[in-house]
Amino acid sequence: MVHPTYFIAPGAGIGSLRLEHADLPELQVHEVRVKVGAVSLNYRDLMIALGDYGPLEGVTVPCSDAAGEVIAVGSSVSRFRPGDRVITNFFPHWIDGDPTPAKTRAAPGGSADGVLRTLVQRHEDSLTAAPARMSFVEACTLPCAGVTAWNALFELGRLSLGHSVLIQGTGGVSTWALQLARAAGVRPIVVSSSEERLARARELGASATANYKKREDWVDLVLEQTGGLGADLVVDVGGADTLPHSLRACRVGGTVAVVGGVSGFTTSIGVVDLVAGAKRMAGVLVGSRSMTERLVRAVESSAIRPVVNRIFAFDDAHQAFQWLGMGRHQGKVVIEVGPS
Ligand SMILES: NC(=O)c1ccc[n+]([C@@H]2O[C@H](COP(=O)([O-])OP(=O)(O)OC[C@H]3O[C@@H](n4cnc5c(N)ncnc54)[C@H](OP(=O)(O)O)[C@@H]3O)[C@@H](O)[C@H]2O)c1
Repeated sequence: MVHPTYFIAPGAGIGSLRLEHADLPELQVHEVRVKVGAVSLNYRDLMIALGDYGPLEGVTVPCSDAAGEVIAVGSSVSRFRPGDRVITNFFPHWIDGDPTPAKTRAAPGGSADGVLRTLVQRHEDSLTAAPARMSFVEACTLPCAGVTAWNALFELGRLSLGHSVLIQGTGGVSTWALQLARAAGVRPIVVSSSEERLARARELGASATANYKKREDWVDLVLEQTGGLGADLVVDVGGADTLPHSLRACRVGGTVAVVGGVSGFTTSIGVVDLVAGAKRMAGVLVGSRSMTERLVRAVESSAIRPVVNRIFAFDDAHQAFQWLGMGRHQGKVVIEVGPS
């Protein structure tokens, strides 16, 4: 079935994004065909376009995260029916348990074709039922940003009522972390480069905020806010410039969830801070389908509405990528592909 599909040449820049027509192969017995409603952008999509995401060759369909409606199912499909609303899983092969190279292979929008197209065809196991009351525009923010925040806070971080978390930034992952923390009774402290985004973060429930460009000693704010102890969890998206500070902002016995590297990927940290503080520092790699299902259950039982900063039309995908690259968004940038 021929359908409009974007292609991009990794490393050749946003300008290499092209809207063409692609064919879908015949539906296999365990496959589901989804009419895409919306696609969300992640920092990763920009990195892939700009060639900052390791060696990827050839041309690929960009983006990993879509929400849409099932329009056809293969003869052996048991998990979904036509009319169901679904989201794509970031790792199609990671269903449960710890990650392995086999489970995290072929991530769409990178080493496998992605979802910036009007139709997506996937094995039924690589989809999750979308949260009941969410539009496609909202639901497409879950697969990468939502699940990564969920994994950092509740799977790796094991946070619960009364804990504290330091959240860096106000982008996709960070805003999901803020909303989930607030909903769970966890005290979020947020740092950002923008006063305007900090004001919105306070509206969303941040209990204390600081501008990391103006207040370089933001670790002191975290210590002030936590009785001198440090946060139970630090969600680090900065990488090179922030990890040493994140370690200091984390309490003895606490955890630093290493999520991103927006300021670079190479740094040095104080081993004594880590060892003498009995602190844990661990990488977060989005998450499994089971984690996605736990996130869906949690948002269905909460009042969370994902923060969508701007919605672009399908024909304006270039502008959406450019807007993300400007770094002025709060929450998610979404491309609407069809009606919600
Ligand atoms: N490990 C994983 O599984 C995983 C999954 C998703 C994303 N990530 C990574 O996480 C990072 C964020 O991804 P995203 O999609 O949420 O990006 P995004 O929406 O583009 O947001 C980028 C964020 O980085 C913050 N930032 C920029 N420079 C900073 C600095 N020096 N210190 C602290 N924060 C800084 C910005 O905060 P302000 O604008 O408020 O200053 C903004 O919130 C990226 O590195 C991405 O690759 C990793």
